Formats: sequence, structure tokens, C-alpha cells
Amino acid sequence: MHLHKYEKLWLAFGISSLVLFLVIVGVNAFVAGNQPPSSAKTVDPGAVEVTAPFDQPGLKKIGDNEYQLVVVTSAFSFDVGTQDKVVEIPKGATVHIVATTKDVVHGFEIAGTNANMMLEPGHISEATQVFRNEGEFTLLCNEYCGSGHHLMHAKIKVVD
Ligand code: CUA
Repeated sequence: MHLHKYEKLWLAFGISSLVLFLVIVGVNAFVAGNQPPSSAKTVDPGAVEVTAPFDQPGLKKIGDNEYQLVVVTSAFSFDVGTQDKVVEIPKGATVHIVATTKDVVHGFEIAGTNANMMLEPGHISEATQVFRNEGEFTLLCNEYCGSGHHLMHAKIKVVD
């Protein structure tokens, strides 16, 4: 095959453009891979118990009718900071839920509310829920996690 001089030139230009493009994409991917986006919060699943805020599960008042609820899950329980696994929340409170798992994937669903998320090892899951109505709400695991899956639950008691 015979190529004219300018055709070779264009070919060379095309190939070097492609190489340059791939290098830029590769470098960007490398940089992004080493610095996860700030929105994706992570935690060492083996060090959950010694990592704040998970070292102190439970409800904390953080503002005017505003709370943080820290929950640590493991097969097969929800640690909500109380022995009886009941969390009392004042009616109308805004609750910022922060949760993770020490072992396998668990679900986090407060039945009858919009709070529904998946907890994955190494990841911090967050949701904000306003409890407008009094009553008892069941916190349950909705991801099959093993033989004790059905035993995983706790209770949210919204009191006046
Ligand atoms: Cu935990 Cu199902």
C-alpha cells in the first residue's frame, strides 16, 4: 500500500492524538481512584467499634429538636445504644441517621417511614428522617443476611 506524505502525516497525527487522549483519561482515572469523592464516606469495617461516631452508638442531641442516631449493625443485631434496643425520640424531631455494618450487607428500614437504606461493609450510610407522628416504629433488616436475619430488629418509640 502506497501512502502519500501528507497521509502519513495525518496518520501520525491521529495516532499521537489517540495516545495523548488515552494518557489523559488514564491519569484522570488513576487520580480519581486514589481519592474517592468526598460524598462517599467510608469506614474500616474491622475498626467500626473504635471509629467515631460508631464507637458510641445511640441517640445524641445535636440541636434544637435535632438529633443524630448512630447505629452499628452486625449479624444479627442492631446496636442502637440501648440494652432493650428501643430508641425514644421526641415527636417532631429531625433525626440524622448514620449507620454502618461490621460484617455483611444488612438492610436498614424503619417501617412506616421513608428511612430505607442498604448498609455495606466499609461504607457509611446516612439518611435524615423527621418523626412527625407519635407511635412505635420497627427498625428492621430487609436484606437477607443469614440464619438470624429475621431476628434483626429494634424499635423506635416516638413520644410526645
Ligand atoms: Cu441483617 Cu438481614
